[in-house]
Amino acid sequence: MSVAADSIRDQQRIIWDQFAAGWRKWDAELLAWHGPFGAALIEEARLHPRSSVLDVASGTGEPGLTAAALVPDGHVVLTDISAGMLKVAEAKAVARGLQNVRFEVCDAAALPLEDESFDAVFCRFGFNFFPAIGPALREMFRTARPGARITAAVWGRAAENPWASLIQGTLAHHTELPPPPAGTPGLFRYSAAGLMSRMFRDAGLVDVTERRASTDLVKASPELYWEFMTEIATTVAAGLAQTDREARELIRSDVFQLLGRYEHDGAIRLRSTATIVAGTRG
Ligand SMILES: C[S@@+](CC[C@H](N)C(=O)[O-])C[C@H]1O[C@@H](n2cnc3c(N)ncnc32)[C@H](O)[C@@H]1O
Repeated sequence: MSVAADSIRDQQRIIWDQFAAGWRKWDAELLAWHGPFGAALIEEARLHPRSSVLDVASGTGEPGLTAAALVPDGHVVLTDISAGMLKVAEAKAVARGLQNVRFEVCDAAALPLEDESFDAVFCRFGFNFFPAIGPALREMFRTARPGARITAAVWGRAAENPWASLIQGTLAHHTELPPPPAGTPGLFRYSAAGLMSRMFRDAGLVDVTERRASTDLVKASPELYWEFMTEIATTVAAGLAQTDREARELIRSDVFQLLGRYEHDGAIRLRSTATIVAGTRG
């Protein structure tokens, strides 16, 4: 692993440990918002009651914890680089009375798990934050049994994701910040159509499919939207952290104004679109 990859991984561990409190606070909202993406991955995984399941970059536990309830005679291993995020997942597993789960703090590119030991592997919004796709996907392939399903969600194009591009675009308008360098974490870095399915095929997977899934981020007020975004969206918060107080206030007020365009039926509804990719280890 290169020095750049090591430093991205170290930064991600620190950032996500800091954001774990926000993800715990907004857990119910995150579950509802991301639910359709988790459901799409679970559908692609074709689970059965005895399935052994791996969730890579599981964060505060999804879709692994939802899958655990669907495999009562199987088990789920939830992994993440951030011990803080996984601690939240562990507390949720206890609260739900799940007995068939275990947790491993580890890098997606170095899974401390046996070869060919899982029937299904998930990765929901993890690839966006890894140094690269290849090393993590190779580990998912290695730990999957022949015939296992590997399925992932990554964010779609900026235009299909105003929930984030609204703030990021306003931030870019008010600052001289350069766009993040290629090969660094970002919400839209894998949004090109066909890119994920090509990566899956190149990794040796067969029966590869790619489709889009969408839902809305719904917030009752601009204040609640801002509070949510600055407490859960690491890339947005990182951009805002590079601005001074005055610029931040300007950005906030512009964002509030732009949110007016997204008000329907008394709430702010922001489209959120992901690419769902799936394949089988032959
Ligand atoms: C957007 S969260 C997704 C969490 C969960 N899968 C979900 O969809 O709710 C991204 C997660 O990727 C994890 N992550 C970032 N880099 C990682 C790496 N190199 N290896 C493993 N996990 C990583 C973060 O700690 C964070 O929990």
